[in-house]
Amino acid sequence: MRKKIVAGNWKMNKPLEDGLKLATEVINMVKDEVRNEALAVLCTPFTNLYSVGKLLEGSKIALGAQNCHSKDSGAYTGEISAEMLKSVGVKYVILGHSERREYFKESNQFLAEKVNTVLKNGLTPIFCCGESLDQREKGIHFDFVNSQLTESLFHLSEADFSKIVIAYEPIWAIGTGKTASSAQAQEMHEKIRTHLAGKYGKAAQETSILYGGSCNPGNAKELFACKDVDGGLIGGASLKSRDFVDIIKSF
Ligand code: 13P
Repeated sequence: MRKKIVAGNWKMNKPLEDGLKLATEVINMVKDEVRNEALAVLCTPFTNLYSVGKLLEGSKIALGAQNCHSKDSGAYTGEISAEMLKSVGVKYVILGHSERREYFKESNQFLAEKVNTVLKNGLTPIFCCGESLDQREKGIHFDFVNSQLTESLFHLSEADFSKIVIAYEPIWAIGTGKTASSAQAQEMHEKIRTHLAGKYGKAAQETSILYGGSCNPGNAKELFACKDVDGGLIGGASLKSRDFVDIIKSF
């Protein structure tokens, strides 16, 4: 059975006090209302990790980070290592978000190194892939996403591959209010799983593939009902406790 996951990516939002308030609301609502098996993850800014992690102790919600560096330690001013994340209770790390690929020029090769480091530290990468509108309109979206997966993941052993979570986030749907239709999401998720199966065989059947891009309480049910959609990576709607918890309840 593939794990169902709803991860909130807070991005660069919520200073500490606001973050603690949001996390507390989510914890209480999940405790009172969520009866399904879905795993919720809060991917907060670095500055909130330790304190939010303390609040999450004893809850069913896991702590996630939004990035980390590829190196173990050393002279990388301003960067955060996987070991540091682990030391504050982080379990999941988003890698390769399209915003990091675009604004910080993160390449597939650099992301392959980050994937290795995150796995080496016993954490779970949530590896993001997804095409631009231009690529989709040119009809090269499947090839583009496959190449992101090949270049950053296909060096992994089957044992390591089986620890990865994938998030498909079409860039044109992120923060735009324009969601991929459930047919578009299912089509891409199925292509992704087939591509992964070409390399890893049956293990790909166990890989959770999340959808991200303007997912909200109004469309989550339809998206999550798709055969190959195993949950969501949620941006804007994860900043509102009511919306985020309603999305978790959408399975
Ligand atoms: P939105 O849900 O705000 O579109 O963001 C999606 C996303 O980028 C999650 O990582």
